[in-house]
Amino acid sequence: MDSFEGLKDLVHTKLRETLLVVASNREPYIHLYGEEGITEIRPPSGLVTALDPVMRAVGGVWVASNWDLQVEEERVQIPIANPSYTLRRIHLSKAQQDGFYYGFSNEMLWPLCHIVHIRPSFRRADWERYVEVNRLFAEAILEEIEDQNALVWVQDFHLALVPRLLKEARPDLLVGHFWHIPWPNPEAFRICPWKRELLEGLLAADLLGFHIRYHCDNFLKTVGMELEARVIDEVSAVQYQNHTTSVKPFPISIDYQGIKRDLQGPEVKDELGKIQKLFRKRREFLAVGVDRVDYTKGILERIQAIDRFLEKYHEYQGRFVYLGIGSPSRVHLHEYKRLWSDVLDLIETVNWRYRAEQYRPILFRDEHVSYPRILAYYMSADLALVSALHDGMNLVAKEFIVSQPEEDPGILILSQFTGVARELHEAILVNPYDTEVFADTIKTVLEMPKEERERRNRWLQEWIREHDIYWWASSFLNEMVSLKRG
Ligand code: G6P
Repeated sequence: MDSFEGLKDLVHTKLRETLLVVASNREPYIHLYGEEGITEIRPPSGLVTALDPVMRAVGGVWVASNWDLQVEEERVQIPIANPSYTLRRIHLSKAQQDGFYYGFSNEMLWPLCHIVHIRPSFRRADWERYVEVNRLFAEAILEEIEDQNALVWVQDFHLALVPRLLKEARPDLLVGHFWHIPWPNPEAFRICPWKRELLEGLLAADLLGFHIRYHCDNFLKTVGMELEARVIDEVSAVQYQNHTTSVKPFPISIDYQGIKRDLQGPEVKDELGKIQKLFRKRREFLAVGVDRVDYTKGILERIQAIDRFLEKYHEYQGRFVYLGIGSPSRVHLHEYKRLWSDVLDLIETVNWRYRAEQYRPILFRDEHVSYPRILAYYMSADLALVSALHDGMNLVAKEFIVSQPEEDPGILILSQFTGVARELHEAILVNPYDTEVFADTIKTVLEMPKEERERRNRWLQEWIREHDIYWWASSFLNEMVSLKRG
């Protein structure tokens, strides 16, 4: 039985007569009205990339906040073309979006948990909105469940208080929480004025998941430092106020088989043809980078390394092109506005330095690029640059690997500060802050013999094939079921 069948089997046997509810801030699809009716676009979020295939496989309800002004219904069956599960939408007022999402989640928790030297902003009014919106989520989830048995799988840092609110109302519910971003060390976390409430919210869950063991250990140390709780290191659990929470690593992944099918599909083939025409004439070597434009992603550090690479190894000038796809993100926030302007400024400087007739070393696309086109870019590239300064996992790295052909594959240069670096042993690791070594690594990879690239790629593909998204979801849900039995 493969991992996809394994997950379905698990849900149909061990979770029979149990409603599966997923809750996240972000909706799994953005709906756009166009001349051809409604189109569904996948937002640039690792969480959505991972969980949508799971929900399509097993069904259930996904509760999310509603930002989508074009489709107003409270409940929608999605995906529209092939309805597989229910989306329950919570409408947030502008004040709630500001305080809960922009303020507390993205100006406080995001910089607090990512160690990238951006100072978190602590504002009581944002905290109050965060509490209010977490309550709205808990109420909507309880409404969906009515009096059924349910397993609720809460996602990410936007919803840290939801497990506690659910358990207060329905102690019998099985509640899991998955934290998709890093958990920082206790010294970093201790400055948060609402640390106790956040920890207590999470510790009401039966199972709390992080991507890697290091984040679990940071969490356990934080709890040991901040609460009068019993941390049981041997079994990686916390006992607090008569409740036990298991704290375990589950490295998130992607739909390996699904991507392999998409790569063979007509849409990707069509895009591939266009890209070949466009780039083959203009360059010998193509590097790609795909990110939400976020200060955690190391975009500036990547361009600085490319600059140094072209300066130091000038034989590559005119032959090497970097294509960056940057999805706009959280653009109302000051740090993100500043980052956009710094990125554009640096690209202009580097392009000016090395430009020659038709040649510009850096191309940057900041509009929405379709998924088939992104896959086609991955397939065409000799090299992908994932240079995050701190990242819970990073699924772009896995998507790039899976898109490579067996023969003559491209190579991944990966920041050692991503969660995925702990898994993808045959990727080439760099410290993105070390411009000199980063620049040298680009050269090494471009000159790497074909046999070595093929050997590394075989190992990486096999790893992801075995540890795909269905394996991840099954591991988490199996663990929850075993907690219920135990
Ligand atoms: C990270 C978070 C997700 C979030 C995504 C995109 O991956 O862990 O929860 O959805 O970034 O960010 P956004 O603010 O656009 O939802």
